[in-house]
Order: sequence, then C-alpha cells, then structure tokens
Amino acid sequence: MTIGFIGTGEITKAVVTGMSTVDGEKPTILVSPRNEEIAAGLADRFENVEIAASNQAVIDGAETVCLALRPGDAEEIIKTLKFGPSHHVISFMPTFSQARLSGIVAPATRITLVTPLPAVAFHGGPTPVFPPDEDAIAMFDPLGTVVAAETDDEYQAMCVATASLAGAYAYYETIADWLQAKNLPADKARAFSGAVFYALAATARNAPEMSFSELTHESATRGGTNEQVLKHLKDNNVYTAFSKALDGIWDRFENAKPSSD
Ligand SMILES: NC(=O)c1ccc[n+]([C@@H]2O[C@H](COP(=O)([O-])OP(=O)(O)OC[C@H]3O[C@@H](n4cnc5c(N)ncnc54)[C@H](OP(=O)(O)O)[C@@H]3O)[C@@H](O)[C@H]2O)c1
Repeated sequence: MTIGFIGTGEITKAVVTGMSTVDGEKPTILVSPRNEEIAAGLADRFENVEIAASNQAVIDGAETVCLALRPGDAEEIIKTLKFGPSHHVISFMPTFSQARLSGIVAPATRITLVTPLPAVAFHGGPTPVFPPDEDAIAMFDPLGTVVAAETDDEYQAMCVATASLAGAYAYYETIADWLQAKNLPADKARAFSGAVFYALAATARNAPEMSFSELTHESATRGGTNEQVLKHLKDNNVYTAFSKALDGIWDRFENAKPSSD
C-alpha cells in the first residue's frame, strides 16, 4: 500500500516517522515536496519514503492520501487537485468536516477524519478517528492509541480535548516552579515534577478499568495532604475553569463551521 501526504509539515513528520519505525513491514510513503527541508529529512532517514514531484503526483501515486495542510490554505490548495473515485482521503485538519471535504475531493467519497498528536512519532500518540474506518484504524493503531468516534460530535469532542495539552504541562510547570521557589535546583525540580507526571500517566495506563474519579479518590487519603490540595483547587474552581476553557474551544469549532455544514 502507498500512503501519500499533502503538506509535509510537523504532523506529517511525526506520522511518517511513526509509520516508518514500526516493527515489520513499513508502508510505502509518498510525501509532497513542501516543506522541502522536512521532506528531504524524511526521505534521507527512511528507505520507504519518497518525495513526489508535486501535490498531484502524490495523489496519482497513492491509494490513500493524507491531507495535512494549514486550515487557512487547505481549501484553495485542494481545489486545484484531481482525486479519483477510489481514493481514500484521510484529513488531519480538525476544522474540516466530512461534508466540507466531500465538496472539494469529489469524486473521492471515502473520507476519514483523524487527529494524530505528535507523540505518534514514538508510537505513543492518541488518535481520534471518524468514522471508524478499519483501514484508518489499522494505520494509526500501531502509533499509539486509536479512539474511534461513532458520530461527528464524538469526534469533535476529542479534537477539542486535545487543546488541554499546554494547560496540563503548565500544571507540572507550576509544581517545578514551586519546588524552585523552595530552593530546589532547577534540574532537580524538573526531574521530580516530570517523574510525578510520568508516574501518574503510567498508573492510569496500567489500570484502564479505573475511572479518573476512582484514581482521584484513591490518591486523596482522607485527612491527608492530597485531599487538602484537591479541596483547595476545587474550592477555587480550577477544574470548572478548565472545563469552561474546553467549552470555549467547542464554541470555536462550531463557529468555524461553514453555515452549510
Ligand atoms: N501539529 C500538530 O500537532 C497537529 C496535530 C493534528 C492535526 N494537525 C493539523 O494538521 C494540519 C497541519 O498541521 P502542522 O502542524 O503539520 O502544520 P505545518 O507544520 O505548518 O505544516 C503544513 C505544511 O503544509 C505545507 N504547505 C504549504 N503550502 C503548501 C502547498 N501549496 N502544497 C503542499 N504543502 C504546502 C507547509 O510548507 P511550508 O513550511 O513550506 O510553508 C507546511 O510544511 C493542520 O490543519 C493542523 O490543524 C496538527
């Protein structure tokens, strides 16, 4: 199978790296020539990656075409290209619905939306997929965790949740900064806060049957220090603020939809 990529930027680099470093057979990959430096880097590093002569050459040489363009440029670029009826189009662009894409990639009708995160490069990325296309799931499953959405709204909700990453890092930055303010050297503060972060992630990963509420409850010993911090954060509406921030991103996605969607 040949997988093509139009828009060889940061997320294509991560996905191509992930796909080219899986165990066993690697897919043949055709990337668009722009960005020149990223395309050259991928083709130099991986034997299964080739640079196509143009965007149209990607489409002509691949059965599956991933679209990874910046949302502001994408429509104008895609409109100049000719797809065939049997192409499987996989879009990484969260603000493009299936309905909007079907108008610009016709006669191709098989359209799957996926939002991989950069950690797919080292097979640790979560990827929402909609609709649950078996081939798309098989492509992204080896790159981390695929969560298939059954409806447009389920998919959009997961895309919205990916806006939580910087806020989550800032939480651990707050802990590291606090440790430094207590005179712990910066390298130790980074190491310790990072280790707490990894420990929590590993604990949650190793116990998928436990809800986050159960994990929270288990960590907050009655009368203990964790319970005190949790109560303080809740009393100060920290989690309500986080949830409201995600509502703001949901509204942004809704407002970005063309009125025909
Ligand atoms: N980054 C992420 O973590 C992530 C995750 C999931 C989804 N996405 C989505 O994926 C899309 C791409 O994101 P990105 O972060 O990879 O952006 P990016 O790094 O800016 O990549 C976009 C690429 O498109 C290239 N390009 C511009 N005009 C082109 C043309 N006419 N033909 C072919 N390629 C062209 C750009 O080349 P130049 O550099 O030469 O301008 C750039 O390399 C966006 O819609 C984004 O929302 C991103």
